[in-house]
Amino acid sequence: MLRRLMSFLPRLWANWITLLGSVVTTLSAFAIIIFAVLASFSTRSNPYSGIFAIVFLMLFIVGLLIIPVGFVVERIQQKRATASGVVHERDVIIKAFMAAVSNQRARRLMLFVGALTAVNVILISVGGVRAISYMDTPEFCGAACHTPMEPEWTAYHRSPHQKVQCVDCHIGPGAGALVEAKLNGMHQLFGVIFNNYHRPVPAPVAHMRANTETCEGCHARERFLGDSARLFPHYKPTKENTPAFNVMINHIGGLDTRTGKFTGIHSHLAPNHTVTYEYLDEKRTQIGKITVMEDGKVKTEYVLPGEEGKAKPLGTRSMECTDCHNRPTHKFDGTARQAVDKAMWNGELDSKQPYLAKVATEVLEKANIPREQADSFFRTEVLAAYGALDAKPVEADMNLAIAAITKIYARNVFPKMNVTWNTYPDRIGHYTEKDDELVGCLRCHDGKHEATLANGKTKKMDKSCDLCHATVESGVAPEKFEDPVKQMVGIPLD
Ligand code: HEC
Ligand code: HEC
Ligand code: HEC
Ligand code: HEC
Ligand code: HEC
Repeated sequence: MLRRLMSFLPRLWANWITLLGSVVTTLSAFAIIIFAVLASFSTRSNPYSGIFAIVFLMLFIVGLLIIPVGFVVERIQQKRATASGVVHERDVIIKAFMAAVSNQRARRLMLFVGALTAVNVILISVGGVRAISYMDTPEFCGAACHTPMEPEWTAYHRSPHQKVQCVDCHIGPGAGALVEAKLNGMHQLFGVIFNNYHRPVPAPVAHMRANTETCEGCHARERFLGDSARLFPHYKPTKENTPAFNVMINHIGGLDTRTGKFTGIHSHLAPNHTVTYEYLDEKRTQIGKITVMEDGKVKTEYVLPGEEGKAKPLGTRSMECTDCHNRPTHKFDGTARQAVDKAMWNGELDSKQPYLAKVATEVLEKANIPREQADSFFRTEVLAAYGALDAKPVEADMNLAIAAITKIYARNVFPKMNVTWNTYPDRIGHYTEKDDELVGCLRCHDGKHEATLANGKTKKMDKSCDLCHATVESGVAPEKFEDPVKQMVGIPLD
């Protein structure tokens, strides 16, 4: 048996085609075994290991197919050789091989070379897997291509998803998605090399993976979130930075297990229910026809009266998580005013310093300078702004304020990428500094889109203030809140 196997081996090496086939088969077999072992040790599925396993499996099969081709070629050659009376090189090789195998030293040498090759293959594969899992890390996505990803990379570190890998939202599981992403990635790589890419990187992302494969891998849409209180701190541009806080109770809803129905804001996602919309611009700000489907049938169709057919829609989408949660991570601060409100609320800017809300907002709105020059720019501008006012912080507080303003600028404005205040607006609410702008929810809930119902009556998209939330406080200083309200929004009781 062993002898027969041994005599088969040199046949594999007798011509280069069979040799190629056997090398390819052996190496890919090794790789497949190693991937299988490593995969059984790793805790999370890596989309890259899937694709590599497939590639090696294909190589394995190709190798197996090449070997018989080699045999056929060889048989033809041998026939010719026998006809012309020449000793075929195969027979020479077989003879030499058998002689070598019968020599103990040569046998050991062959074993040694064989073992070393196996070690090599293991090392290369482990290294490959390492490289592959590195490609999966946020460091690779965010930091390796520094300039284009700098805004997202910076904002990512301040988000609730800072431990979620970029690929978990951007690629999702499965080899198919990965191939698509990598092909796209090649294009982007050339973009970076030749300094030819969009600044800013366009949002929304045109071919984002379906949220059922990304967000819903971690979040169940059925989860009932009910009503939830939210605090919105604002400071007026006065000497006292007068606080004017809002508290809203958002009717988030979800699957109400008592009634078995989806309620509230998350009812857009009830399983038998889809909301599709036509968008008229790339940013999906202008919304055309909105269709509500129930159990696969059109239930209600909203159009803008008088506008039908005027603008050609760029596309149609079914609403999913990211149509509202478009900034679940790499979340910027919005406008300069919103950034100052947040910083003052979390203590980065000291609300006891006179006019700080006003001055900080003004200098931040005005700044359009390289990030490296921010510190000296804000020093000059802040001092100048206070020169015209009747009160200013003492020097130490002034320095703290300037440092904080510089930091706020650095996490929101990226001139190299043309990213500045509100380049990437959040669609979760409807915040705007101009009343006539339709943003976020109000793109659809505009009180203008209109449906004609079966009974001939018309119905407008609901814009009423109590559809989505209840107002608890409006423009009030937090000290004036009732204790339960303070507790709901996390303000310490005194
Ligand atoms: C929790 C999910 C999630 C994670 C994690 C995530 N992203 Fe995103 N990202 C999104 C969504 C959703 C959008 C689409 C925004 C839109 O459509 O307006 C987006 C958009 C982007 C864009 C387009 C420009 C922009 O800011 O909208 C870039 C670039 C980007 N992400 C890079 C990254 C990088 C780099 C990482 C990792 C450091 C990362 N993302 C991690 C969900 C995520
Ligand atoms: C890998 C798992 C994972 C994925 C994928 C994921 N999330 Fe999350 N998400 C979390 C975890 C964990 C938290 C809670 C973070 C915390 O509270 O510290 C969270 C928090 C949130 C929150 C609450 C944020 C807040 O301010 O407290 C929202 C909203 C959210 N995710 C939406 C999304 C959306 C939309 C997507 C898809 C684009 C997504 N998530 C993808 C794990 C994930
Ligand atoms: C119609 C818009 C909309 C859609 C679609 C939507 N959400 Fe929400 N979601 C909201 C709003 C608004 C809130 C409340 C946010 C707030 O109060 O700041 C919320 C709250 C949440 C929260 C709780 C956040 C917290 O801080 O407690 C999670 C988690 C969440 N959504 C996940 C999802 C996921 C996952 C999907 C997709 C399956 C989804 N949402 C689809 C609008 C939406
Ligand atoms: C793409 C259009 C679109 C966007 C954007 C949108 N909605 Fe809606 N919303 C709808 C449609 C359509 C309905 C169903 C109207 C009907 O019943 O005919 C609806 C219904 C609702 C309802 C009523 C649910 C119920 O109980 O009947 C709430 C609450 C709501 N939306 C909140 C929001 C919030 C909050 C946002 C922003 C975070 C938002 N919507 C963004 C299209 C939209
Ligand atoms: C379609 C749903 C919807 C409608 C209609 C709606 N809102 Fe809101 N509103 C929201 C959501 C969602 C948020 C919370 C955004 C967030 O969590 O960041 C919000 C936040 C707010 C806030 C706090 C924002 C801040 O920065 O202080 C105020 C104030 C507010 N809404 C007022 C109104 C008023 C007044 C109306 C009626 C004219 C109205 N809303 C109609 C969904 C809606």
